[in-house]
Amino acid sequence: MPMNEALSDYTQQCRHRVESSLEKILPSSQTLPARLHEAMRYSTLSGGKRIRPILVYAAGQAVDVAPERLDSPAAAVELIHAYSLVHDDLPAMDDDDLRRNQPTCHKAYDEATAILVGDALQTLAFQALCCGNSMQTDAETRLKMLETLTRASGSRGMAGGQAIDLESVGKSLNLAELEILHIHKTGALIRAAVHMATLLNPDIGREKIQALDHYAKCVGLAFQIRDDILDVEGDTETLGKTQGKDSAQDKPTYPALLGLSGAREKAQDLLTDAMACLTSFGSEADPLRWIAEYIIGRSR
Ligand code: IPE
Ligand code: IPE
Ligand code: MG
Ligand code: MG
Ligand code: MG
Repeated sequence: MPMNEALSDYTQQCRHRVESSLEKILPSSQTLPARLHEAMRYSTLSGGKRIRPILVYAAGQAVDVAPERLDSPAAAVELIHAYSLVHDDLPAMDDDDLRRNQPTCHKAYDEATAILVGDALQTLAFQALCCGNSMQTDAETRLKMLETLTRASGSRGMAGGQAIDLESVGKSLNLAELEILHIHKTGALIRAAVHMATLLNPDIGREKIQALDHYAKCVGLAFQIRDDILDVEGDTETLGKTQGKDSAQDKPTYPALLGLSGAREKAQDLLTDAMACLTSFGSEADPLRWIAEYIIGRSR
């Protein structure tokens, strides 16, 4: 099967899995307070590439963990991601009107609701890890998964990266500083997605854990570099979010620092590094290979 076809079959299956978990985990829009629950569903269930859950399943496959055991961590990481987007779009942050081809949460509802949607999606993610019974694991492993996701989401991870992003507007960062920013705001959650999957197989050994962690670090950074590139050369309709916002808001990005071709080269180097991390794996890591390639070439 050609790589593209295999990837699209694989991602479709993973999306289906995570979307049916999210559907179950999210309170119905009739549950009180109905407007908050409706807004949580609006922000989580309508679109999105689901790349983080797909990485949970793909890393699980690489270390021989069955997909049903990964449903809770996959949903949990997507809930954190959905919350981060709702808050990222708020007027106090990036002030965006369009997300996943529909009005952003604070536009469709209001700002207070969007803040609460973020709060509630975040805690729901942790609840999914505490209570998901398909994980078939002990309390200690659950605690390790919670630690992984909380660290990646907090001030030393995604939220910290968002703080650096906002502090850096209008400043010129050097390459090392920009890398720190991207590794935190986007890389941390992607790394946590892969790491949570590996925690479900305690027998895989240190070397494989480290190799997958390094893979995730490369892919996480490459993901944000591609996001920056698409902000320059993508189009709003395909992206589902307004193109050109980074330069309009004077955000520090890879294309701003290295130019488009420099940014593309950097993403390509990271792909090479990510692939090298997988040499001790066989075909069980093919989905991780397809995803890495997809990430640096994607158009949305
Ligand atoms: C957008 O993430 C924000 C970044 C961290 C770059 P995605 O590109 O994964 O957004 P969706 O989930 O597909 O909408
Ligand atoms: C968002 O980065 C990162 C997080 C939401 C944590 P961006 O601000 O570049 O994401 P988009 O471009 O709005 O999706
Ligand atoms: Mg932002
Ligand atoms: Mg943004
Ligand atoms: Mg962006």
